[in-house]
Amino acid sequence: MPQLELVDYLVIGAGVAGLRAAVALAEHGDVLVVTKEAVGESNTHYAQGGIAVAEQDRGEIALHLEDTIAAGDGLVNRDAAQVLVAEGPERVAELIEWGARFDREPAAEGGRLLRTREAAHSRPRILHANGDATGAEISRSLAALALGNSRIRFAEWTMATRLIVVDGCVCGVDVTSARGDANAQRRVMARAVLIASGGAGQVYSDTTNPAVTTGDGIALAALAGAELADMEFYQFHPTALSLPGVARFLLSEALRGEGAYLRNDRGERFMERYHAGLELAPRDVVARAIAREGLYPLASDAAGNARPVYLDMRHLDGKVHGVAIHERFPGISGFLARHGLDLAADLIPVRPAAHYLMGGIRTDLDGRTSLPGLYAAGEAACTGVHGANRLASNSLLEGLVFGVRAAEAMLGDRLSLVRFERESKRSGSKQVDEEIVPIITELRTMMWQHAGLLRDESGLRAGFDRFWPMLERYEALVRKAQSSRALVEAGALLHIAWMIIESALERKESRGAHFRKDYPKRNDIQFPNHSIVDSDGIVR
Ligand code: SIN
Repeated sequence: MPQLELVDYLVIGAGVAGLRAAVALAEHGDVLVVTKEAVGESNTHYAQGGIAVAEQDRGEIALHLEDTIAAGDGLVNRDAAQVLVAEGPERVAELIEWGARFDREPAAEGGRLLRTREAAHSRPRILHANGDATGAEISRSLAALALGNSRIRFAEWTMATRLIVVDGCVCGVDVTSARGDANAQRRVMARAVLIASGGAGQVYSDTTNPAVTTGDGIALAALAGAELADMEFYQFHPTALSLPGVARFLLSEALRGEGAYLRNDRGERFMERYHAGLELAPRDVVARAIAREGLYPLASDAAGNARPVYLDMRHLDGKVHGVAIHERFPGISGFLARHGLDLAADLIPVRPAAHYLMGGIRTDLDGRTSLPGLYAAGEAACTGVHGANRLASNSLLEGLVFGVRAAEAMLGDRLSLVRFERESKRSGSKQVDEEIVPIITELRTMMWQHAGLLRDESGLRAGFDRFWPMLERYEALVRKAQSSRALVEAGALLHIAWMIIESALERKESRGAHFRKDYPKRNDIQFPNHSIVDSDGIVR
């Protein structure tokens, strides 16, 4: 039996949803936040463009709702979206009160919050911080609050390996060191467990997400029997930096919001041919347009030859709204400068990359999953708020709003702390981490080629044919290894990949981020609903 620990509430993940929930939970109990690396190493930290939030005005809130629903391509859960846009202003106001510093106009001009536009927003409503480091500022301010709260403890460099389920109820988590310390396994029992561990961008070879984003929480929930939903909807951000040998660094949509153009290698502003919204068309439309113009090997078009596509700010003469481009976007400018590119003066090569999972652990509007005792919030959860395509900059807001709601449900459901699993199963023997690496590299390439931006039946099935041998190789390793970070992450990525392919095969239509070349039209008669992956892994 591993070392045992009791806590009132356990939170997995220290991004915006996990931190905000921890702060709310700590008003009524002791909280342990488990995070795979240091606090702050999350998708939240890397979010650039901003946080979308309407001004406290009924008309503005209604417009935010309309934009969210329109971007979601017929699949948005209206009630969830209403909650998001209506509760968002209060959540952001309290964040500002707690010390988050968003960019403002000079005091002499009134000091009002600056709001920019991004794709598919009918209004400039995106708040930003330090120009292009909004996620880092939100993460910093929430982490400072949580770290200063004596009822919140952090277990950094720690990862959950299994949910403990007793009599159908989740009542704890097995955790281990994420740094490979073999003696660090322990079991934490809690009244309620919140999964706020983010998405799974690492399931694709090209992603804007950091290395920690391996879908562990989603896979843990599914393996414990929780339902998932909408796993076929992976959002590809249109503009990640495309330089050989350089990570797919995010080039915020705010660049296009402030006037950047997209050009193909013939210098054409090609979005004119795809959508009236041009560079600010919905994200899925822009991503597919770049894929078509760029003709690089994608999905099942593996034979295509890459042709560069560029972001272009040269026509802005170095300034946006009177502010130097380098000053408005200091983080992006600095990163590009380190790679020999000038954001204001050069054509910047871009390509789409996996960015955000609209699907995830199925929850109600208060974070309850299909398993009592288990809650989920943020990108790991699927309330249906984003439908088939998330509106830009709605994700940080989602974390704040649904993090609080999940915490309130955990507190209100009054679950007891006295359920114990009778038996503990543990494998053990030697490390096999290195043998996992080629399996996962192959998986990520397969997903990019067969379950990426452009999909079809034969490509998805070919992906499955390549998937099964990988799963078999993984299972052989599991049989001879002890639980390690690499094994847990690999298992999670395999599970997520499987669910994405299954769900993408079932949805024989195109909608939002899910595009089927063999069914290029939206079909509201046959596929009007969210897809649910049940506890047996069956998509319905
Ligand atoms: C961006 O800055 O383009 C990312 C914002 C988001 O994912 O909503």
